[in-house]
Amino acid sequence: MNPMERTHNCEMKIKRFAYWFIGFSVVVIIWKLCIIESNLVSLQSFRKALELQEDQLELTQQQIVLFENWLNKKNNKKLPTIYAVTPTYWRFVQKAELTRISQTLRLVPNVHWIVVEDSETKTELVRNLIVESGLVATHLNAKTPPFEQLQSKEPRWKRHRGVEQRNTALKWFRDTLIPNKDKGIVYFMDDDNTYNVKVFDEMAKIKKVGVWPVGLVGGLNAESPILDEKTGKVKGYRSGWKPNRPFAIDMAGFAINLELILTKTEAWFSYKMEKGFQESEFLSYFITKDELEPLADNCTKVYVWHTRAENPAVKGTIPGLEV
Ligand code: UGA
Ligand code: MN
Repeated sequence: MNPMERTHNCEMKIKRFAYWFIGFSVVVIIWKLCIIESNLVSLQSFRKALELQEDQLELTQQQIVLFENWLNKKNNKKLPTIYAVTPTYWRFVQKAELTRISQTLRLVPNVHWIVVEDSETKTELVRNLIVESGLVATHLNAKTPPFEQLQSKEPRWKRHRGVEQRNTALKWFRDTLIPNKDKGIVYFMDDDNTYNVKVFDEMAKIKKVGVWPVGLVGGLNAESPILDEKTGKVKGYRSGWKPNRPFAIDMAGFAINLELILTKTEAWFSYKMEKGFQESEFLSYFITKDELEPLADNCTKVYVWHTRAENPAVKGTIPGLEV
């Protein structure tokens, strides 16, 4: 073969190889596309199957909720009654506040709501609200004496609030319930705070006095008992105001075993107490600091907030419409 023929032969070989290569690649590509296509089809049917399962999963979740409710109902029989004591007085936000907390209480099993109105007589508004709430409840009233009533221009802290009403509830407990027989936990539940139902779960663990943090109070994001790392007991308080009080805890930050309320009959709230010392002095009747039972995950969770509703500027009222 001469060199010309050799070059031509070589070119032919390369061309043939290129045709083969292109042909082979096309076959491979078509084959791959077929696989992807069939994968897509199976992926789609997998997705459809999952969608079907999703409905079933939702159903199962509902079945779990129902089952949980059923279990809770069985367990609730063993839970102590929570006696929630709520002082309340007329102002434009009263019905809204009471609606809010009564509906929170609807989520709490074994609760007995004790509503004490700061009024000469029980009002229709509160009576109807209690009936509508469907809660087990006791409706009382006790008017704050005029010398202790907050005057319109006075700041709130000038007067003790809820003293007469909480004492009326204490009297009701001691007149109505029997030590060693009636079991429960007493919680002073002001009408304007915000409560997570979890705080009531915590109360079920109380032996004497349980404590936990309170959000948005005393100029801090939260006040809280401080625990000793070694013993896990309360060693002090993070509080925006006088943290050295024997018990620097807001009313919303503790609950007491009913047994203590019924047996320590000398324990009352009083106007004689220094302003801001109601909680501290009241707790001193029952317990020492190192006996306090820290709850809410060793006081690391906030389940109650010391919220306050702004007084709305109401310029007119619709006659006959209860708000
Ligand atoms: C803080 C505490 O959270 C209260 O538990 C405590 O009684 C009060 O300080 C205090 O040192 O006396 P604060 O938000 O300042 O609470 O008080 P309010 O929420 O205005 O009153 C506490 C409770 O007493 C509420 O349930 C409220 O409805 C009731 N109250 C207030 C009355 O029954 N009559 C009143 O004239 C005022
Ligand atoms: Mn308040």
